[in-house]
Amino acid sequence: MFNPFSLEGKTILVTGASSGIGRGICIDCAKMGAKVHLMARNVERLNRTLDEMEGEGHVIHQADLCSTDDINALVDVLPVIDGVVLCAGIIKTMPVKNISEEAMTEIFNANIMGDIKICSRLLKKKKLNHGGSVVFISSVSTFNVKVGNSLYSATKGAVNSFAKAMALEVSKQEMRVNCIQPGFVPSNILETHGLGEDALQWYKERHPLGFGTPSDIANGCIYLLSDASRWVTGSIFTIDGGYTLQ
Ligand SMILES: NC(=O)c1ccc[n+]([C@@H]2O[C@H](COP(=O)([O-])OP(=O)(O)OC[C@H]3O[C@@H](n4cnc5c(N)ncnc54)[C@H](OP(=O)(O)O)[C@@H]3O)[C@@H](O)[C@H]2O)c1
Repeated sequence: MFNPFSLEGKTILVTGASSGIGRGICIDCAKMGAKVHLMARNVERLNRTLDEMEGEGHVIHQADLCSTDDINALVDVLPVIDGVVLCAGIIKTMPVKNISEEAMTEIFNANIMGDIKICSRLLKKKKLNHGGSVVFISSVSTFNVKVGNSLYSATKGAVNSFAKAMALEVSKQEMRVNCIQPGFVPSNILETHGLGEDALQWYKERHPLGFGTPSDIANGCIYLLSDASRWVTGSIFTIDGGYTLQ
């Protein structure tokens, strides 16, 4: 059957695989035929993702994006892969005047520096196949800014810029690099954001198609990981149920 979106025969690394959007990406990529390497810190929750996945040959990796040693060890044990979805991320909300060195270091490590280290190591160790696809999960917060969210917006803006520059650099190897910037998808991250019921309702009313699900983002990843997107690179896809239309 004609299916340009198939991931049959492809091996994919997904960071942030223990929860929310990353968990959904693992489950849906497995349904499309991929062998998935799942990465996060919490092994128990990684196993919960694994339990929900179809197919054989998936592998769990415990690693912390704040640790260069963990990242190097992760990449070194990987086989040559066909794609990576850099989905792990955290939110830290605070006014600019209260930003601490510690908060800044943690969020930049988790949201951008760890991703850069993974990409660099994958290329250095020749672990990303010719024709491989890199997908970053950034956020509509890159341009849809909110008071208290400056650190998060800054990290996600850096993700978009890094992805575009990397896309140009690796195009000679026919590797592709793209970003997806989601709107609101209920998950743990929104709980750590500390939004109350009223705020959630406010956001919900501003999403013309309602809040999204992990599968809404996973479908974008499947497209970008598949051969259907072989001519797509350096693009930033907004998948937000129309949130940023108004
Ligand atoms: N949900 C939304 O509305 C939304 C909107 C726009 C963008 N995003 C982006 O989408 C991505 C996924 O978010 P989510 O909503 O699915 O959040 P989530 O449910 O909180 O999941 C975050 C994931 O990141 C992992 N992670 C966090 N820090 C890590 C670290 N230092 N090292 C390794 N893994 C780490 C967590 O795993 P462990 O705790 O097990 O390590 C978890 O698997 C994030 O990049 C987020 O910024 C989300």
